[in-house]
Amino acid sequence: MAVAPTRTKKSARRQKMEAAVNYPLDWLEERSGLVGGLRYFLFRKVPGDTNWFHTLGSATLTAFLVQAITGVILAMYYKPDPNSAYQSVNHITNDLTLGWLVRGMHKWGASVFIILLFFHMARVFLFGAYKYPRELNWIVGVFLLVFGMLEGFTGYLLPWDQTAYWATVVGINLNGTAPILGPFLADFLRSGAEIGPDTLSRFYSLHMLLIPGAIFALIGLHLYLVVRLGVTSPPWSREAAGGLGAGADYEAQDGDGRVGLTQPTARSTFRRNGDE
Ligand code: HEM
Repeated sequence: MAVAPTRTKKSARRQKMEAAVNYPLDWLEERSGLVGGLRYFLFRKVPGDTNWFHTLGSATLTAFLVQAITGVILAMYYKPDPNSAYQSVNHITNDLTLGWLVRGMHKWGASVFIILLFFHMARVFLFGAYKYPRELNWIVGVFLLVFGMLEGFTGYLLPWDQTAYWATVVGINLNGTAPILGPFLADFLRSGAEIGPDTLSRFYSLHMLLIPGAIFALIGLHLYLVVRLGVTSPPWSREAAGGLGAGADYEAQDGDGRVGLTQPTARSTFRRNGDE
C-alpha cells in the first residue's frame, strides 16, 4: 500500500509568515525577556491532579478584569457631583448605546467578583493551601479581600439615590463604632461631619483610583507567589499528604523536616518514584 509522503519541509510562504510573526516577539524578547517570562508563566508545571477547583483564582481574576474594563467605560460618562450623579447614571442606562449592558455588567459583576473571591478562598482553605510556605500569599489574599469589599462599599454610593445614600449612612455608622479608630474612620469616610458632596468625590476617588490600583498591585504579588511556590495538590492526592508516596524522592524535600501538606520546592523539581 502506498504511504503518503510526510511533509518534512515547511513551505517558503509559511516560513516567511512565521518569520514575520516572530520578528516583533524576538525583538521584544531580546530587549526585555518578557516573552520568555510569559511563556514560563503559561507553560509552567503544575501537579498532575490539578482540577477545576484550581480555576477559581483565575475566575476571580477574570471577574476583576471585567469590573476594571466596564468601570473605565462608566467613568467616561459618570459625574461625581450630587447635582448630576443620579442623572448621569440614568443617562448611561437609558440613552447610551449598550450603556444598560455595561452598567449591568459592572453592577452584577461586583457580586460575581465577591462570590468567586469567597469560593476561591474556601478552596484554598479546604485544600490547606494557606500552610507553609504559602502563609504570605494567604496574607496578601486577606488584603485583597478587604480591598475587594471596600471596592463594593465605595461603589454603592455612586448612583446617589436613596438606597445608595442610606446604605452608606449605615456603613459609615458601623465603621464609626470600631474601638479607638472608629470616629476617625467615620470622619475620613464622610470627608467631614456630614455626608455631602465631598463624601461623593472621596468615594469616587477611592473607588476608581486608590483601591483598584492597590488590588492590581496585590494581584501582581499574589500571582508572583503562586508561580514561585507552585500550586498545591488536592488534599486527597499523595503529594498533598506530605509528598511521601512509597519510594518518593526525599532529597527534593527541604532539610528541616517541615514537610507538611505542601512542597516548598517548585513543583517541577519534585521527582516522583521511578523518575530519573
Ligand atoms: C482579587 C482576588 C484574588 C485573585 C484574582 C486571586 C487569584 C489567584 C490565582 C489565579 C491563584 C492560582 C490558581 C488557584 O489556586 O486558584 C491563586 C492562588 C492562591 N490564592 Fe488567590 N486570588 C485572590 C484572592 C485571594 C484570597 C482572598 C485569598 C485568601 C485569603 C487567596 C489566597 C490564595 C492562596 C493561598 C493561593 C495559593 C493556592 C495554592 O498554592 O494552591 N487569594 N489566587
